[in-house]
Amino acid sequence: MTQAQETGMYTQSMDLPDDAAEPRSAGLKAVPQALHPSEAELQAQFDTRIDADGKIEPRDWMPEAYRKTLVRQISQHAHSEIVGMLPEGNWISRAPSLKRKAILIAKVQDEGGHGLYLYSAAETLGTSRDQMLDALHTGRAKYSSIFNYPTLTWADVGVIGWLVDGAAIMNQIPLCRCSYGPYARAMIRVCKEESFHQRQGYEALLVMMQGTAEQKAMVQDAVNRWWWKCLAMFGPPDADSPHSAQGKRFGIKRIGNDELRQKFIDATVPQAQVLGVTLPDPELKWNEERQHHDHGEIDWDEFWATVNGNGPCNKERLATRVKAWNDGQWVRDAALAHARKQQHRALKEAA
Ligand code: 3HC
Repeated sequence: MTQAQETGMYTQSMDLPDDAAEPRSAGLKAVPQALHPSEAELQAQFDTRIDADGKIEPRDWMPEAYRKTLVRQISQHAHSEIVGMLPEGNWISRAPSLKRKAILIAKVQDEGGHGLYLYSAAETLGTSRDQMLDALHTGRAKYSSIFNYPTLTWADVGVIGWLVDGAAIMNQIPLCRCSYGPYARAMIRVCKEESFHQRQGYEALLVMMQGTAEQKAMVQDAVNRWWWKCLAMFGPPDADSPHSAQGKRFGIKRIGNDELRQKFIDATVPQAQVLGVTLPDPELKWNEERQHHDHGEIDWDEFWATVNGNGPCNKERLATRVKAWNDGQWVRDAALAHARKQQHRALKEAA
């Protein structure tokens, strides 16, 4: 048995819940407003395709609410990947060995790539990358709460790989089967790369846990600081999640926030045991009846404060992003000038 199997690491084949095959129309209309007869026919075709678990592609007709939901979710996701490069990027110059530095550079570069696939997927819905980036840079767009916390020690880099990327994979594997083709296809590649990210983090921590008492304490301290933030990453409880019902109806969101959070906890507990760390929740225990772990209460006030711009690093993260964008202006100008020159040459040759 491999270590991945022993510790229940994530794979690409995570099961969907038993009710996944049921039609999603139960009790919910895809578009609430009255439609013109010609649109009603298109709406009916759209609903039939969603109920049959088919894919919607960019040139297909889609209700405006579907388009809006996708642009909202995919652009927030893309921003999360790009801002997510920053907490770990801080450690590239301070990685403890050449091997760790090479792995970290590759990982941070992957996150940039994920952002680009996702911006491209959102662009197929008619929103330009400039519009999305403007929303991010002016503070109007959301990105994941988790990237607004500081990375204080090298152990944080391992814990981000193990827990943050682990939580991201748990949330994103169901998205590989979402109803919008470009998003689903982007997520397949993203999830494969995220699996490597999660494993490199866990492996880095395993090595530290075989080291000195100081190294072990550093890992435990990082786990203590990140655990609750990772649980909150899955989003508010289903009862307080305004988009969940519609997201499920559209075949975008396959599994609810609470169920994914529970799956993550159940998968992580044995991994923590193998690692030799304690998860900082005195109420965390196996519930034989539920066949799941019970856990303590998440601090939702802290989560919402962070989502609304008042976490420990929100301002710093946004300022770094805006500076990177402004500093890169000359590269974009040069690329455009080169493209114009090539186009001019091609026209001259054709004449
Ligand atoms: N951080 C910030 N905002 C969050 C959030 C979080 N962890 N969880 C929920 N929210 C926001 C929602 O975006 C929504 O805001 P809006 O109305 O302004 O758009 C509001 O809180 C209500 O939440 P809902 O549960 O109703 O929203 P959703 O149905 O969209 O579910 C989600 C939230 C589960 C995050 C879903 O959007 C999703 O699965 N998104 C795609 C995956 C994603 O974006 N992951 C982010 C992390 S990516 C990452 O970690 C990179 C990796 O490299 C580590």
